[in-house]
Amino acid sequence: MKKILVTGGAGYIGSHTCIELLASGYEVVIVDDFTNSVAEPLQRLQKLAGKSVSFHEVNLLDEAALDAVFVKEGQIDAVIHFAALKAVGESVEKPLMYYKNNISGSLTLFDVMQKHGVKNLVFSSSATVYGDPEETPIKEDAAVHATNPYGHTKAMMEQILMDTSHAFDWGVVLLRYFNPVGAHESGEIGEDPEYPNNLLPFVSQVAAGIREHVTIFGDDYDTVDGTGVRDYIHVVDLARAHVKSIEKLAKHDKGTLIYNIGTGTGYSVQQMVETFRQVSGKEIKTVVGPRRPGDIAECTADATLANNELGWSASYGLQEMIESAWKWQSQNPNGYRDAK
Ligand code: NAD
Ligand code: WQD
Repeated sequence: MKKILVTGGAGYIGSHTCIELLASGYEVVIVDDFTNSVAEPLQRLQKLAGKSVSFHEVNLLDEAALDAVFVKEGQIDAVIHFAALKAVGESVEKPLMYYKNNISGSLTLFDVMQKHGVKNLVFSSSATVYGDPEETPIKEDAAVHATNPYGHTKAMMEQILMDTSHAFDWGVVLLRYFNPVGAHESGEIGEDPEYPNNLLPFVSQVAAGIREHVTIFGDDYDTVDGTGVRDYIHVVDLARAHVKSIEKLAKHDKGTLIYNIGTGTGYSVQQMVETFRQVSGKEIKTVVGPRRPGDIAECTADATLANNELGWSASYGLQEMIESAWKWQSQNPNGYRDAK
């Protein structure tokens, strides 16, 4: 494996993964249409890695443009497919937009891969495919029953890839991410939502004085302190799981492999906010509100399979996740928007 095409490489997880790929000696080709990103992280990640990437501003739905990328780049050994829309609430309101972008975009990509003989793929799946799990920590053989259109796109993509790897002898790794947080240690790249849907970016913005308070979505769950518990995973650890997946594909027989990517440890909303207060030294006002529709009490990963088969395990704990998130937030109060 030498040359890796990364869809969605300008996004949050993609940009961190490109740095890790470059650091491991891979050549990186990025395809992104900036639907949910900007060009600035591309400049920064190349500077941090001291190496350049090849970038193509292309929407995955544009088959001719995508085909031209594969023609121009020559041999591509594997694809890491991040590009997707990811906001659960928006997916409930605009399901067709989600199915079109996430499913049709992927199908177009797979057609082009097949045409050019590219048979290795790592796919961004999500713990959301488990819905409300019967038991935690969750193992990969737990039932898949997503509960919203975004989650359905992930579950459908998993099925499509299992069928495709079987029919065409592809090697596929499906990574089910738990809750990615944090940023690169430099504070130069990180998550840049204008209006955050997820807990940690919201808490960051409250600590930075951009928003007034964090609403805690329910404190009457059957958990350690009544607030929701999640398995937060440092984005750099998650990025490294993709490098390990590429290494696995280089050695592995064809077929689909599925791995949970989490630390195995859960933290409650209250614990996250408290740790953020300690790390930032800022007051973070919280207000308890009603439960958010569709939320579950607890979600943690059993990542034993990834430990054993990918040789991957999380190396960062909660402190580092929050320190890096705060460094990114403090250095870039307006995300990438201030960049010249
Ligand atoms: P992100 O929005 O920051 O990155 C996605 C990138 O894909 C963006 O740069 C966007 O512009 C691009 N993109 C979207 N549709 C495209 C299209 N049709 N053509 C070209 N580019 C397109 O999101 P992220 O947090 O980095 O997530 C990456 C992947 O991981 C997604 O598939 C997401 O569903 C999955 N995931 C994310 C989380 C999370 O909490 N962040 C959790 C589980 C899974
Ligand atoms: C975490 C906890 C909330 C915000 C989502 C997607 C999932 C995956 C990751 C893509 C929960 C609580 C949150 C706030 C709060 N994405 N919370 N106040 O819901 O576990 O997962 O992102 O695949 O598919 O569903 O993450 O960060 O939104 O919430 O109290 O303002 O924080 O109730 O307990 P979630 P989250």
